[in-house]
Amino acid sequence: MPRVFSGIQPTGEPHIGNYFGAMRNYVALGEQYGKNSIYCVVDLHAPTNPAAFDPALLAARTLDMAVANFAAGLDPQKVIFFVQSHVREHAELGWLFTLLTPVGELERMTQYKDKAQKLESTPAGLLMYPVLQAADILLYKADTVPVGEDQVQHIELTREIARKFNHAYGETFPEPRAVLAEGALRIPGVDGQGKMSKSKGEASTLGILEPLESIWQKLRVAPTDPARVRRTDPGDPDKCLVGDYHKLFSDAETVAEVYAGCRTAGIGCVDCKKKLMVGIGAHLGPIQERAAALQADPDYVRDALAQGAREARAIAQPIMEEARERVGF
Ligand code: ADP
Ligand code: NA
Repeated sequence: MPRVFSGIQPTGEPHIGNYFGAMRNYVALGEQYGKNSIYCVVDLHAPTNPAAFDPALLAARTLDMAVANFAAGLDPQKVIFFVQSHVREHAELGWLFTLLTPVGELERMTQYKDKAQKLESTPAGLLMYPVLQAADILLYKADTVPVGEDQVQHIELTREIARKFNHAYGETFPEPRAVLAEGALRIPGVDGQGKMSKSKGEASTLGILEPLESIWQKLRVAPTDPARVRRTDPGDPDKCLVGDYHKLFSDAETVAEVYAGCRTAGIGCVDCKKKLMVGIGAHLGPIQERAAALQADPDYVRDALAQGAREARAIAQPIMEEARERVGF
């Protein structure tokens, strides 16, 4: 049976990019593989990007990330769901992997370049991020990694690290493969500034747990096809993030209607956005209701995470022991 691993950073509110790009696949794979599907709030990764990290918010954001995943349909009784820092072996295996990874290759990682370029001083941890990510995955000998398209390069590096370790110390780790969401989604931010990302702050994201009124306020002013200046100009819904979002949230009939309406100037952008809100409400409403119930019971969430950490450690510790012995410790 395959073993699934994926992580999500507690660097901010979980957003619809995380949901459609990754979390929905967590749920689907969880249904299929039960306790062989392992999901982790990767809190050790969060401080690598100082621009998106606040120690005072870390605990709450970690809990929110668990709540959002449980509310989205992940059942902690059926899968393994835990917090990375509760399992110390992640950092230990990460150290062993730093010894096998050329700095030059890490410097070529797209995400690193993007994030480093915005910082005045770059922490070494930001460079090491994909090495720790490789340890996250291989600590469970996972071979199946549901992620968004933005992570493919990192999973490629994980494969290389596994190969190098096996070559240097003997066959130990599988070479995992990325499993992309259908359509290999890369969901744009609502501010029109490229990929939606927690690290870009709330202007970029539509949160899964964000009140619908607040979502509407962002959507209302969201850029649409820039060529559509007047209400009577036809637009190109394929060049519009509202068009992209409709494909995620609206039924096929509505998508066809607004796409045709946009191309013929039969519908204005404001009405198109209002129609989108209907789909968003239908999707997020039930998730937000379940989240409210979980938020009212933080002990349940904490207990589930503690149980998840015990289950994760039971798998991780013997694998870490094996890796230590291979290297000679
Ligand atoms: P973020 O970039 O928002 O900080 P993470 O790094 O925590 O998100 O990524 C969690 C998961 O969500 C990863 O599998 C990532 O590929 C996916 N993901 C993040 N942003 C997007 C997006 N805009 N579109 C599709 N998938 C995304
Ligand atoms: Na990311």
